[in-house]
Amino acid sequence: MRKALIVDCCLRGAISRTARLMEAFTRALPADVEVEKLVLEEEALSCLVGAHFEQRQRLLDAGMLDHPRFRYAHQFAEADIVCIAAPFWDLSFPALLKVYIEQISVDGITFTARDDGLVGLCRGTDLVLLTTRGGIYANNPMEMGSRYLDALHTFYGFDRYHCIAADGLDVFPAHAGEILEKAMGDARALARGL
Ligand SMILES: Cc1cc2nc3c(=O)[nH]c(=O)nc-3n(C[C@H](O)[C@H](O)[C@H](O)COP(=O)(O)O)c2cc1C
Repeated sequence: MRKALIVDCCLRGAISRTARLMEAFTRALPADVEVEKLVLEEEALSCLVGAHFEQRQRLLDAGMLDHPRFRYAHQFAEADIVCIAAPFWDLSFPALLKVYIEQISVDGITFTARDDGLVGLCRGTDLVLLTTRGGIYANNPMEMGSRYLDALHTFYGFDRYHCIAADGLDVFPAHAGEILEKAMGDARALARGL
């Protein structure tokens, strides 16, 4: 069985449009893919400050990569497919996702530095971002969420990066339903082909 990690950063509960993309994607994954879901809102994630930061440094210096606080990094590194579902906030994504990225970016687990540069250590082949946006941001340099995750897919060592975005949901509310349906179809097609 292959493993898919679904990272749920859809923060508006039942009314989240991004969550609908995530459900469409997850349900269409091939039968040989085992799904593990991580709901970021339910995790006690802390950003790297103060004692939390210092503990991490001590553990890294001591080579204690099996410490429980690195469980998110191990989980991420061991997945064959990682799908992140997050709405477009403030030109990127919610801060909670950045806090999670701080948790998984661990030298020796998800990446490392060698003489010839950085090397990704994740076993995953495909990193997927599912997002919905109020405005239209495809091919817009002000879009900083998908472009950042695209860079991270290289940093972590994934082979491929995919982004499915439903754009313009708040700018064109009359068309929001059809825009979302189209993106859900794209998400299903992507999932089926993985
Ligand atoms: C805090 C916050 C920040 C947002 N920032 C942007 C933004 O910078 N650009 C944009 O086009 N839409 C922005 N939006 C609109 C969302 O991207 C849009 O409504 C999206 O579909 C929300 O996803 P959801 O339904 O899954 O919660 C923002 C919404 C919120 C709540």
